[in-house]
Amino acid sequence: MATLAQTSTPDAHQRDIFLRISAHLAHETGIQSALNAVAREVAEVLPHTHFDICLLDGPGWCVSYEVGITTRWSRRRTRTEVSPVRDILTGKVSNMICTNAMEDPRQTFEGARSEPIFNHRLRSRVHVSMRVMGQLIGTLNISHNEEGLFDDASLQLTEHLGDLLAPYFHALRLIEKAQRDAMERAEVQSREEGLRHGASRLAQAFEQERQRIGMDLHDQTLADLTRLLREVKDESAPLDRYAIASNLTRCIGDLRATIEEAVPSQLELFGFAHAISEHLEKSAARVEGLTVSLRDEADEAIDEIDPMVRTAVFRITQEAINNAMHHANATHIDVTIDRARSGGLRVRVRDNGRGISLAPTDRKSGLLHMETRARLILARLDIENLGGTCVTLTLPHDVKGARP
Ligand SMILES: Nc1ncnc2c1ncn2[C@@H]1O[C@H](COP(=O)(O)OP(=O)(O)OP(=O)(O)O)[C@@H](O)[C@H]1O
Ligand SMILES: [Mg+2]
Repeated sequence: MATLAQTSTPDAHQRDIFLRISAHLAHETGIQSALNAVAREVAEVLPHTHFDICLLDGPGWCVSYEVGITTRWSRRRTRTEVSPVRDILTGKVSNMICTNAMEDPRQTFEGARSEPIFNHRLRSRVHVSMRVMGQLIGTLNISHNEEGLFDDASLQLTEHLGDLLAPYFHALRLIEKAQRDAMERAEVQSREEGLRHGASRLAQAFEQERQRIGMDLHDQTLADLTRLLREVKDESAPLDRYAIASNLTRCIGDLRATIEEAVPSQLELFGFAHAISEHLEKSAARVEGLTVSLRDEADEAIDEIDPMVRTAVFRITQEAINNAMHHANATHIDVTIDRARSGGLRVRVRDNGRGISLAPTDRKSGLLHMETRARLILARLDIENLGGTCVTLTLPHDVKGARP
């Protein structure tokens, strides 16, 4: 076993090691790699089986960076009040030496996160506080399997080390935090941009819809009414009331069809399941051999959600059914309304057709609008090949107005 330090002032060998540590730290930019380099050097003067730095991470929490053995300490954040080094982290003491931590009540108190001490038999332990500009930032901890290995000299050496390492690790930690914050900001930004993009695509779709309604009214209804007016005004020919009435009836029918395409009136009047069932029946009537089924296992809860959200769910379901009808070559389309495990309402459109190709290039307006609408109502859209296509829309469990 290596000889432990005997004196309070570092000797030439120890100073050499400190210089080498400084050189390592000057080149390292990550906390873990810096710690590995330091631990290798420290082993020459303070032999150890476990070496870690525990840094405060917001009020009441700490995180560890370990070398040698990886334990739960570095796997997740720990509350300072259950950390074996809580007395240092809470400022009660500035250092600690344990002859045998496995039997030391300061480390193994009720509720303490001391499993690694027992699992890896970390008997000898020496701990010092790490400070930057007078502020406590964490602890430096060195442990060995052998009992009673560390003494005052080891403590003093560890203190020198703690003083040397504290500013470096504080800076590395700040850099790590800044990088994480920057990544989170970039993610939020790209999500917002995606949503803005989606909203603008949807606005474009609304504009196209408005133009389509204008064109339908212009080309069909307006043209019919103009022709009728001409006939009524024509004094040279007798008025054929029957012909005029049947033309007017047709006009009203066309107008109703145009309106119905724009506003899902079935949805408003009779509810979601009914409107979808109507749509399914219409689809089945258009394709020979196509059968359809609908099950509402959520007890009409979908009719209690915010009407805007419900309309979006209706549009998504409608497009999934249209796609199944046009592209799947299916003989059956099933729509199920139920609740997901999360508690959120779920609508599933499943066909037994040829299955969908999931290549992104195949996505046209239909699928893109489905995705955009889903994102705008914060729902999750899954499109899977399950021996046919299965489109599942899952609403968040706390969707506005939803019955629990
Ligand atoms: N249920 C399905 N089964 C098989 N293929 C499908 C299914 N749904 C979609 N697809 C495929 O995905 C493609 C993209 O669908 P999408 O709805 O985006 O476009 P579209 O239906 O062709 O046109 P539109 O923009 O008018 O909806 C379809 O062209 C089709 O090849
Ligand atoms: Mg489509």
